[in-house]
Amino acid sequence: MNHLEALSRRYSVKKFNPEKIVPQEKLLRILEAGKLTASSLGLQPYEIIIVESQEMKEKLIPAFYNPSQISTCSHLIVIVSKKKIDERYIQGYFSHISEVREVPMDDLALFKNSISHHIEQKNEDEVFNWAEKQSYIVLANLMYAAAIEEIDTCPMEGFRQDKIDEILGIDLEKEKVTVTLALGYRSEDDDFQHLKKIRKPNDKLFKFI
Ligand SMILES: Cc1cc2nc3c(=O)[nH]c(=O)nc-3n(C[C@H](O)[C@H](O)[C@H](O)COP(=O)(O)O)c2cc1C
Repeated sequence: MNHLEALSRRYSVKKFNPEKIVPQEKLLRILEAGKLTASSLGLQPYEIIIVESQEMKEKLIPAFYNPSQISTCSHLIVIVSKKKIDERYIQGYFSHISEVREVPMDDLALFKNSISHHIEQKNEDEVFNWAEKQSYIVLANLMYAAAIEEIDTCPMEGFRQDKIDEILGIDLEKEKVTVTLALGYRSEDDDFQHLKKIRKPNDKLFKFI
């Protein structure tokens, strides 16, 4: 399946077939696409939680305004964005670069200082706003990879923020849930799969200059 076929087949599923579980090898390839996602400064200011236990999915039902996806999906991916990037986090990132690329830390000092300086300029809201944007790039890649794997999805922001953070035990001093992605297989009786796509015509969406 080429990318346009995969993206045309994709739609935001309202009801999954609860009997069908996404195979582990497909799930891992989808997650790998999330891992390989580009991020500003390479800092990956997010964490990706994969809810696979039935018990946790059930606990999360009250956190969603429309429970039809969470109650039928195979897995729920939750992207949690950072509110704080402290010196320790940046130090960890550079130790990782040093180890993987076999470069002495001293050679990275200039780059590290410029990143620390850049992040220090931001207040907590600005850090979160920046981290959230990175999280949506992950979301897009996860959805795209899932479409290629013929796994259906529904991106969801329609949750009660306080409930989802509480149920997942998120440390609100440091981070917050940004967006979720339900994975699974579309139910045969989900009528949304038959709807024609609504998209702006090219002349309204694209501007060639
Ligand atoms: C960031 C984001 C959040 C969304 N949140 C929800 C949601 O909470 N519930 C839902 O049913 N659909 C949600 N959607 C799906 C959109 O409504 C859908 O993508 C749009 O109407 C286009 O339809 P399609 O995805 O089927 O092509 C969301 C989509 C995005 C990208």
